[in-house]
Amino acid sequence: MKFDAKEDEAVFKKVVKHLPELIEKKCQNYDEIYGYKIIPGNDESLTEYYDKEIAHAIIFKYCKAYNFQYHIIIEKIKNVLNWRRDFNPLSAAFKEVHDPELVEVGLLTHYPNEEPNKKVVTWNIYGKLIKKKHLFKEANKFLRYRIGLMERSLRLIDFTDDDNNYMAQVHDYKGTSVWKMDSDMKKCVKNIIAIFQDYYPELLSAKYFVYVPTFLSWVYDVIKKFVDESTRKKFVVLNDGKKLGKYLPDCPSAQYGGKDTKTLQEENIAEIRPTEYALYLLEKQIIEDVD
Ligand code: HEM
Repeated sequence: MKFDAKEDEAVFKKVVKHLPELIEKKCQNYDEIYGYKIIPGNDESLTEYYDKEIAHAIIFKYCKAYNFQYHIIIEKIKNVLNWRRDFNPLSAAFKEVHDPELVEVGLLTHYPNEEPNKKVVTWNIYGKLIKKKHLFKEANKFLRYRIGLMERSLRLIDFTDDDNNYMAQVHDYKGTSVWKMDSDMKKCVKNIIAIFQDYYPELLSAKYFVYVPTFLSWVYDVIKKFVDESTRKKFVVLNDGKKLGKYLPDCPSAQYGGKDTKTLQEENIAEIRPTEYALYLLEKQIIEDVD
């Protein structure tokens, strides 16, 4: 962790010190973020799941996202913990079975030789959903699928690597022809954007929108209004999807103009294991459900 000022480091330490009380009093003892235990806790049988370096790196991201403003950080961490307890993103990522039509459009890749913070890439081939408006009718299903994919992508991130703990994301809109954004979809997209902003801060290095037909540039203008300024600065819109290779040189050549002769589907990392703590929590939930 790199602090720009001594005051920032002091705030970080104060946040870490206050976490146990916050978790006990305001979060019903829920102490997990992205599959990691964020405080050692009092239960000795669980302290083995606590990795101080990872926990601190995650807390640091929250501090950085909210400019080391103590009270805001505490509020945001409280919110994320309570949201995670209720929404259960670990279940969405590792337990639930999603609609195959959605699973097909979400892929994860890892390019070890790519520049830092762009080695892990999430791909959303949303152009394939153009005629599948039914998938947005049940917004919760789409949301659980998309959050599940986000959680799984985080397993590819090494939080302890100060210089490489962000990811890139690609939206591929190939095949998007004449199209109207209906209210189901607008609601769903808006909701996902808000969740990413609130509960997954400081994780995105760049977001590429490729194969965006020029006549659909208006969609970008509509959607970007939901996005905060700092996230918006990371967006790159490319009409020609093959130009993506300039930004991610190791991506598939035939589809995106990179160097890899494999297709994106061949590059996809389908099997992703939860963290040990996530496994413990998911097993505990199964036992509680049976009881
Ligand atoms: C975000 C789907 C068309 C620009 C999103 C999101 C979804 C989505 C589900 C939520 C964020 C995420 O999943 O990462 C679709 C579908 C489309 C479509 C199914 C039509 C087939 C477009 C077009 C553009 C566009 C034509 C124009 C560039 C954006 C932008 C965001 C977004 C700027 C915000 C990204 C963020 O905050 O992370 N879209 N979209 N979309 N989309 Fe689309």
